[in-house]
Amino acid sequence: MTLNQLQEEIVKLKNQNDVTILAHYYQSIEIQEIADYLGDSLGLSRIARQKANTEYIIFAGVNFMAETASILNQDKHILLPNPESCCPMAAFLTPEKIKKYKQKYPRIPAVTYVNSTAEVKAESDVCCTSSNSVKIVKKIKDEFNSNSVLFGPDANLADYTEQISKIKIVKMPENGHCIVHSQVTLDDMKKIKKKYPKALVLVHPECVRKVREIADFIGSTAQMLDRVRDSSSEDNEFIIGTEVGLLERMAQDFPDKEFYLAHEKMICYNMKKHDLNLIKRALENLDDKSLEVKVPSEIAKKALIPIEKMLEYS
Ligand code: 13P
Ligand code: SF4
Repeated sequence: MTLNQLQEEIVKLKNQNDVTILAHYYQSIEIQEIADYLGDSLGLSRIARQKANTEYIIFAGVNFMAETASILNQDKHILLPNPESCCPMAAFLTPEKIKKYKQKYPRIPAVTYVNSTAEVKAESDVCCTSSNSVKIVKKIKDEFNSNSVLFGPDANLADYTEQISKIKIVKMPENGHCIVHSQVTLDDMKKIKKKYPKALVLVHPECVRKVREIADFIGSTAQMLDRVRDSSSEDNEFIIGTEVGLLERMAQDFPDKEFYLAHEKMICYNMKKHDLNLIKRALENLDDKSLEVKVPSEIAKKALIPIEKMLEYS
């Protein structure tokens, strides 16, 4: 079967069944092409709540994204084409750890990045994504009348959020990070900037501070895409400091512009665990429980509160 035939088969199966396919920008371009909706973490959470009105949602993203969709849609079946697609960053913060931080800082609100488990979200006061973290910490600090916030698990997003919001952040833990983004160094950036001196540098806030400091723009995947869309006709070259899937999206959407990956290793192997054959398998086995991500209702009820607060605040 050719790639096109496989994509056509998937669209046919999807239309014959009550299914919505959601995909994150880090998916391969052939998956992005067959998705009903594409987005960043915040956008996909909104779509999961408002637009995915089908009995089944196939989520081409990592586990925490499917869990968020499950929390927001307890009556629906959320399927991960490859159930092993997880985000290693989430492992930096456990429910036990967040409880300890809350005991140590009892009047300080706990903000958790959506790249966390449902159990951790259930212990937090509000969630955030990379596109709204600054807004969220400001609002929750005001709500709690505190002078600082707890924030985890990404120490780089925490650092970025503290720098922009000027609100003191206690990191939960000190060293949480994304293996894909945090591996890029200032030297890597200097090298690529030297190679493409006219290019604008766009990076994700999960990058380390020294890399962020050299960037022209810092934002979530959707915000980076918007930045390219809004660029002037003179801005024709971009260095992209995030996962390669977003660069592929940009190259398709803006064929007249040039995009260079900040570092050749910016590939999230967990996001890439899905492929078209696995999506087809999920469509053919919608009731296969081994593919379903179902957050237990007790946890889901608790985790829904900080997720809904995030959606309300952003
Ligand atoms: P976005 O919220 O920008 O989509 O990022 C998700 C993510 O996992 C970044 O590594
Ligand atoms: Fe997690 Fe990093 Fe992959 Fe994003 S890019 S899903 S933070 S491992």
